[in-house]
Amino acid sequence: MEKRKIIMDVDTGSDDAMALVMAMLDERFDLLGITAVNGNVEVKLTTMNSLRVVECCDKQDEVKVYKGCDLPIASTLMPWGPQATQMPGFTNPLPHREGTREQSIQVHTDHLPLPVPKIKEEPESAVVFLIKTLLAAEDGEITLVPVGPLTNIAIAMRADPRIIPKIKEIMIMGGGHDVNNSSPAAEFNIWVDPEALEIVLQSGCKITLVPLDATHKCFMTVEESERIRAIGTKPAILIADLVKQRATGYAQMDAEMKALNGAPLHDALAVCALVIPEVLKNVVHVNCHVDISKGIAYGQTIIDQRIRVNPTPKNCYFAFDADKDIFVKWMIDVLEKDKAKRGL
Ligand code: RIB
Ligand code: CA
Repeated sequence: MEKRKIIMDVDTGSDDAMALVMAMLDERFDLLGITAVNGNVEVKLTTMNSLRVVECCDKQDEVKVYKGCDLPIASTLMPWGPQATQMPGFTNPLPHREGTREQSIQVHTDHLPLPVPKIKEEPESAVVFLIKTLLAAEDGEITLVPVGPLTNIAIAMRADPRIIPKIKEIMIMGGGHDVNNSSPAAEFNIWVDPEALEIVLQSGCKITLVPLDATHKCFMTVEESERIRAIGTKPAILIADLVKQRATGYAQMDAEMKALNGAPLHDALAVCALVIPEVLKNVVHVNCHVDISKGIAYGQTIIDQRIRVNPTPKNCYFAFDADKDIFVKWMIDVLEKDKAKRGL
């Protein structure tokens, strides 16, 4: 079976950590590298957290981590990145994302509940790694899986457009239509760097957006996570711990998730979709662009659903729904196969 060559671009983060576990343990992937970006926490922390997860999965000899951009391309919405607030002329034209840093920290902590990593990130920056790896590949050989702000990917495309034909597909966790989180109009990954997704959407690559409309269907309850904990391996225990942490955080801000005693696992769904496409439901080929006008809807993913004589060109696939049962079964299957492979 030919493995799917992928590069994970992450802002690790609790759900990014789960996505990394699944990308490293599902044997259908050839994970070429992990690029970290500013997002849930500052990029030095998203990089370190990614290293922690690589060690947790005992993949330190196979998988390397590259530190990427520490600020968005243009936006200054990020209210808490120390670098962002030191930007000249820093302004925060819109209210902070829902809740406060303290509340959101429950969903994402500066440091994952894992030992300080012994391994270090590579000296090469994420953007250089992306460009060099893609230029060395055949056309259509590598799939990019960005599950944080699109800053690294957008800057790599602008720096060297020759990488674009090398990309087989871009599977993005990001955006929202009827579901948003960082503002009434925008989802976090796009809200942090709206211009970055707009650049990627204009690239002409095959793009699938896995938005909150889909990821909120693939929530996991604390009770369900105990089935994963019972598998007993380090990666399984990490995932169970992070589901519990996320459920605690979501209970402070999302009434639906509070009632469920669970949390959406967002990023892992983008990984699942690459090996089990049927996990995504109601996937529609659409014209989508990002509001970069810096108004109240800054970062909104806007889909043109008008039935026109001359319709606007379609530039991405948008998943309006997803199948939770397929998603949870996939996670359990991969973790149980890993346990068997470890001879446990
Ligand atoms: O809105 C959800 C996304 O924002 C996820 O990728 C999560 O990790 C955060 O980055
Ligand atoms: Ca993320």
